[in-house]
Amino acid sequence: MNSPVLEAIYKRRSIREFNVRGISLEKLHEIVKAGIWAPSGLNNQPWRFVIIQDSSFKEKLAGQTHYGHIVRGANALIAVYLAKDEMYDAVKDHQSAGACIQNMLLAAEALDLGAVWLGQILKNKDAVNSILGLSDNFDLMAVVALGYPLHHNQKSKRKKLSELLLRHI
Ligand SMILES: Cc1cc2nc3c(=O)[nH]c(=O)nc-3n(C[C@H](O)[C@H](O)[C@H](O)COP(=O)(O)O)c2cc1C
Repeated sequence: MNSPVLEAIYKRRSIREFNVRGISLEKLHEIVKAGIWAPSGLNNQPWRFVIIQDSSFKEKLAGQTHYGHIVRGANALIAVYLAKDEMYDAVKDHQSAGACIQNMLLAAEALDLGAVWLGQILKNKDAVNSILGLSDNFDLMAVVALGYPLHHNQKSKRKKLSELLLRHI
């Protein structure tokens, strides 16, 4: 099927190595905007974002995850939060955050950028909030690391549709 959306979905890979080229503010805002246009229950838009490009902040955040090398090598990081005081249903709000993050990854792909969803850093979410100067009203969902890809050698695979489809009635 010939569709730019499907092409982005299938072409997107997690990118963990970046070159030194900087990302424009316009592209960073476009990625956040794509996140904002994800669906959310009751359209409550519970997501909030912090954009990080400052090296000293990146270095502090790198210390909070096993994937510090990715954090250091990225040109930009976008921390995605749920605002607890905007939430109405824990499951649905977390699902909305996932949709938001996936939109951001697809937007990065569409803009010729590379991105990876970093979740391991959540084990130190309190320390991340403290580094970013945020209160505990904000619950970290992921850090998206972004940059121009160093190469396109990434491979990934998926289980077969037949293994995953429980019933077609
Ligand atoms: C909830 C979640 C957490 C993840 N956390 C990390 C992470 O901490 N570090 C990392 O390198 N990749 C992380 N990933 C990326 C996955 O490893 C990756 O999406 C998966 O291996 C499939 O590869 P692909 O994205 O290239 O298709 C995470 C992905 C998700 C959805």
